[in-house]
Amino acid sequence: MTDQILIFDTTLRDGEQSPGCSMNLEEKLRVAAQLEALGVDIIEAGFAIASDGDFEAVQAVAQQCQRAVVASLARAARADIERAAAALKVAKRPRIHTFIATSPLHMKVKLNKSPEQVLESIRESVSLARNLVDDVEWSAEDATRSEPEFLARAIETAIRAGARTINLPDTVGYATPETYGAMFRDMIARVSNADLAIFSTHCHNDLGLGVANTLAAVAAGARQVESTINGIGERAGNAAVEEIAMALKVRHDVLPWRTGIVSTEITRASRLISAVTGMHVQPNKAIVGANAFAHESGIHQDGMLKDSSTYEIMTPESVGQSHSSLVLGKHSGRAAFKDKLESLGYQLSDNEFQDAFQRFKALADAKKQVFDEDIVALVDDEVLRG
Ligand code: KIV
Ligand code: ZN
Repeated sequence: MTDQILIFDTTLRDGEQSPGCSMNLEEKLRVAAQLEALGVDIIEAGFAIASDGDFEAVQAVAQQCQRAVVASLARAARADIERAAAALKVAKRPRIHTFIATSPLHMKVKLNKSPEQVLESIRESVSLARNLVDDVEWSAEDATRSEPEFLARAIETAIRAGARTINLPDTVGYATPETYGAMFRDMIARVSNADLAIFSTHCHNDLGLGVANTLAAVAAGARQVESTINGIGERAGNAAVEEIAMALKVRHDVLPWRTGIVSTEITRASRLISAVTGMHVQPNKAIVGANAFAHESGIHQDGMLKDSSTYEIMTPESVGQSHSSLVLGKHSGRAAFKDKLESLGYQLSDNEFQDAFQRFKALADAKKQVFDEDIVALVDDEVLRG
């Protein structure tokens, strides 16, 4: 089995479904260009039937993309699938991504269909999609709350009808790494024609387990992962692509799989998504948060000044940031303060330095964060008072 993991980015579809995150056409085209620069393999550009705007966006992204496969989502309905195919007509590498729910709850309450009727819908929808494009992905919505025996029959049916990617979403973020991994292992072993398809993960983050679940599924045989930049998406969001890619890169010793992600493009992609959606990244967010490479405690700052690997497991440059930062605050020590003074061009005598440090500590107690301007004011005052 290959060690290459395909990255399916759904920032423009599931990500855009985050409340308040809609993007206009020009913004979607900028995002798609950045996704190609980032090295994702598949871009889900939208849900063509959802609106005329979505149709135009899928079409424009399909037209623009040179390398990546471009996908449009479609329910298991003729109109959806034909609309997706029409929007993808200009794509160099089109994919129709069709889905239907397979859990008892969704089939009964939402679809009002019997399991046999759902199997029939899968047969029809996947065959229709396969008549329109070569590359068809089928998703079992709410897979993690589906009955294994029925899920296996549904997957077999989709593969027989021509689907070559089988996505098993944790639609409501209910799985744990153990249960999600076990589901993939079970399905890959149980489905008689599983070897004809690539299995795919799609994790929501309701319990904060999206990335852990994704990695567990990869360990169990999944070779495509669906994710979004900054983890944006429905409710608590989707698994974040930057976290998956960096986990695979930094911990290659225990996670021996590769992606085509150009990690130095991660920060640019993250900032672009924040800018176009208006959704800020929390400061302590892994990889792309403002504090991901910032250090305040004196012990950590001292270690960082000696060797950055004391407190950083990856370099800021590896994710496209220019440097780490030593943030001055009440936990900072003499080493970081001295380093800051030198970077601001000050050479103080021992006595001046001790006085300045004491005044800095008093200021840091009163203020959450001490900025360069505060240091300049404090030292200039010190020198003037002489
Ligand atoms: O979360 C989900 O189940 C989805 C499917 C439509 C793939 O987004
Ligand atoms: Zn989803």
